[in-house]
Amino acid sequence: MSIPPPATPPAGVSELEAAGSALAEGLEALARDYGNRFLLEPAPDHKLPEHGMRSLDAMRLIGEELVLDGIPQRNLATFVTTWMEPEAQRIIAENLHRNFIDHAEYPQTAEIEQRCIRMLADLFNAPGETTGARTQGSSEAIMLGALSLKWKWRERREKAGKDTTRPNLIFGGDVHVVWEKFCRYFDVEPRIIPLQPDKYVIGPEDVEPYVNEDTIGVAAVLGTTFTGHADDIRGINDMLIRLRDEKGIDVPLHVDGASGGFVWPFLYPDSQWDFRLEQVRSINVSGHKFGLVYPGIGWLIFRERSDLAEDLVFYENYLGKTDATFTLNFSTGSAMVLAQYYNFVRFGHDGYRYIMETMIRNSRALAEQIAAMGPFRLVGEPGAEQLPLVAFQLAEEHDYDEFDIASQLAAERGWMVPAYTLPPNADHVTIMRALVKLTLGRGLANTLASDIAEACETLERKGGLHPIDRQRVKTGTGY
Ligand SMILES: Cc1ncc(COP(=O)(O)O)c(C=O)c1O
Repeated sequence: MSIPPPATPPAGVSELEAAGSALAEGLEALARDYGNRFLLEPAPDHKLPEHGMRSLDAMRLIGEELVLDGIPQRNLATFVTTWMEPEAQRIIAENLHRNFIDHAEYPQTAEIEQRCIRMLADLFNAPGETTGARTQGSSEAIMLGALSLKWKWRERREKAGKDTTRPNLIFGGDVHVVWEKFCRYFDVEPRIIPLQPDKYVIGPEDVEPYVNEDTIGVAAVLGTTFTGHADDIRGINDMLIRLRDEKGIDVPLHVDGASGGFVWPFLYPDSQWDFRLEQVRSINVSGHKFGLVYPGIGWLIFRERSDLAEDLVFYENYLGKTDATFTLNFSTGSAMVLAQYYNFVRFGHDGYRYIMETMIRNSRALAEQIAAMGPFRLVGEPGAEQLPLVAFQLAEEHDYDEFDIASQLAAERGWMVPAYTLPPNADHVTIMRALVKLTLGRGLANTLASDIAEACETLERKGGLHPIDRQRVKTGTGY
């Protein structure tokens, strides 16, 4: 591109202005060789710029903006993967141009998705051949799984000549917000079991009073977002079997294993929560959480083919071929499916077990240090099955609270450790929670422990945050 000569100043423009504009043009020319025009002007932010820019400038502009984001490895709020091996990153980078939905054009990618589904069905102890789907994450998997519950319930009711206008779905206050979202989007009454002041998961005795003939299903969580513990899935299953046998109400169970689905099979293989339990008809799991893939992949697995309501499958004539689709989205990337398969073949059962054990050992080491510090108590029974995380809270009243600690820790070291209150009826309880993933090795976990102690010492000396600052901290939930 040639550099335009400086324009002659029009009549009436002062020499000073002319000199200024010549200087600007000169600088713009120099920027092409030495810099980036956004060192001297703000980033476009409200309309498409009239003219584009050099690819290098665009790349630098975005890179420079992103320094304002937190560093993902210090984000101990997220369950989502923040690091993958370079070889996996290469698979991702080399397959960004492949639209996953083009099954006819990319049949091998479609086959790799099916392999992943078969491997997960086997991991979750499905009794035989079954089906499932790759999704954008657990949220889409839950929408589809719950839709299937609704459709199957309606089918049963229509066959029996009964009313189909008032479906309800039962779950605890410990679920992720997506379950309420499903109910609102798809017109199902949510029957939410409140948490108790000292019990943050649900069991059969909590669920039973809510069940009736209009119940499309019960959702139970394996590894809650709030404390990382599991609902009593086995107990709920047994209660549902009893209800079926005694009252003839057959209520299916869906397990939300968004995080736990990749943790329990490796850390607690004898714990029964999956298709070994008769009423568990579908399971969702996030590939991008403990499946160890970058964001954009989830899975829905059915116990048997017949658990997928046939009406949810669309057979369409697409570009001359008949294709069956069972997802809320259409076009989407292939890269994360391939990355999931990479992890499966790269790590195998042994590798996943090693990684999960490493994370849980580091989380226990961190938990011990936090418990020994003095001001804190851990949330949950010692030895309870849990995700690799540490959930803790202040044991007594102080001049500062958990939100102040989160803020102080971020200010001193940039750690992102969220503080939050639990859902009703435990909403007076505040918790802090640190995820211990592969990027938090023992050395860093030890450093985090001493940083938490130091943040408390600082707060001890200076007192808690100003109410204005505290309000600001509370607006970000962090998960
Ligand atoms: C228990 C549970 N269910 C569902 C979700 C939603 O999952 P995703 O982010 O994969 O859509 C989450 C996310 O944290 C979760 O923890």
